[in-house]
Amino acid sequence: MSRSHRIAVIPGDGIGTEVVPEGVRALRAAADAFGIGLDMVEYDFASAAYWQRHGTMLPEGWFDELKDYDALFLGAVGWPDVVPDHVSLWGSLLQFRRRFDQYANVRPVRLMPGVTSPLAGRGPGDIDFYVVRENTEGEYSSIGGRIFEGTERETVVQETVMTRTGVDRILRYAFELARGRERRKLTSATKSNGISQTMPYWDERVAAMAADHPDVAVDQYHIDILTAHFVLHPERFDVVVASNLFGDILSDLGPACAGTIGIAPSANINPERRYPSLFEPVHGSAPDIAGKGIANPVGQIWSASMMLDHLGEPEAAAAVLRAVEEVLAGDRAALTPDLGGSGTTASLGAAVAAAVKGAA
Ligand code: NAI
Ligand code: MG
Repeated sequence: MSRSHRIAVIPGDGIGTEVVPEGVRALRAAADAFGIGLDMVEYDFASAAYWQRHGTMLPEGWFDELKDYDALFLGAVGWPDVVPDHVSLWGSLLQFRRRFDQYANVRPVRLMPGVTSPLAGRGPGDIDFYVVRENTEGEYSSIGGRIFEGTERETVVQETVMTRTGVDRILRYAFELARGRERRKLTSATKSNGISQTMPYWDERVAAMAADHPDVAVDQYHIDILTAHFVLHPERFDVVVASNLFGDILSDLGPACAGTIGIAPSANINPERRYPSLFEPVHGSAPDIAGKGIANPVGQIWSASMMLDHLGEPEAAAAVLRAVEEVLAGDRAALTPDLGGSGTTASLGAAVAAAVKGAA
């Protein structure tokens, strides 16, 4: 084996435990086909079952245990009947994102063959862009407080934090991503007409970064009209960069415009590679369908493709994505029920893995 990567596999809860094996199956198929060594180690923490046994979501030494992996491959965390969602989320996934400084949250928005967009008259190829969300600061700070509680003067304040380091690094990531794409276009989400300190600063840094990237075409929209354009003119976008709050909203809206939540992937990236990056589907543990073997594994498998790309395996990554497209465009009956088929998680996963072998 010429190249080898170490990956921590964390299935988590609910359908996470059903779709992760299909992601692993696609990874193994790609590794075989392209002569890549993959050392995958599975962990049972970051799950409700672990919490029931230990009273915590993660073992005490989790940081040292995970920090030297090349990537983390996660299913979904959350089982509200057993652990409140804020406990499971803050006790695991948000720890990973923060401690491993995964400041770029990246979600592709692409309308795939075989998938019907909720937007009328759109077909494959019409929607193909990325949302890049700042993942560590911005509106989601815990700076603030309450005074005069319970009185007429009750006062609540929460501060938005934008640092030059934090803003510049997410913008640089997005500009570089745009630079590597055919259209080389970047859209900035702002609200500098209403939010009069932080958002004009964001715009200023976008302008400075644009001057360093003359080969990238830049535009910006206020977040309110930008959400309308996502629905009315999704073909306009190539790379969309946004602060934590705006990016949170856009990164759900975008994938929704491109069809079922079951196929949407995401990456939480530490671009400097000082720590492992984390790859996971957008969806959660889906308690309503868990245990039935009908969850769509494509979000997990597409996340595997993003992970291969990050690991410096672009050919294997492209082969996995092509396999997904081929299977989605093929026999409808083989797809899972959310896509109108009668297939299972395992049968769809097996079909993609077979197509990966064929694509090599
Ligand atoms: P969810 O994404 O788990 O489910 C929403 C709806 O989409 C459900 O009807 C579900 O059946 C359907 N769905 C989701 N993934 C699917 C798939 N692969 N194939 C077919 N249908 C699919 O969101 P929900 O119900 O709000 O949250 C359930 C749990 O998951 C909660 O504990 C929540 O905190 C957690 N969660 C975790 C996330 C993560 O680990 N990153 C992200 C979102 C939610
Ligand atoms: Mg969200």
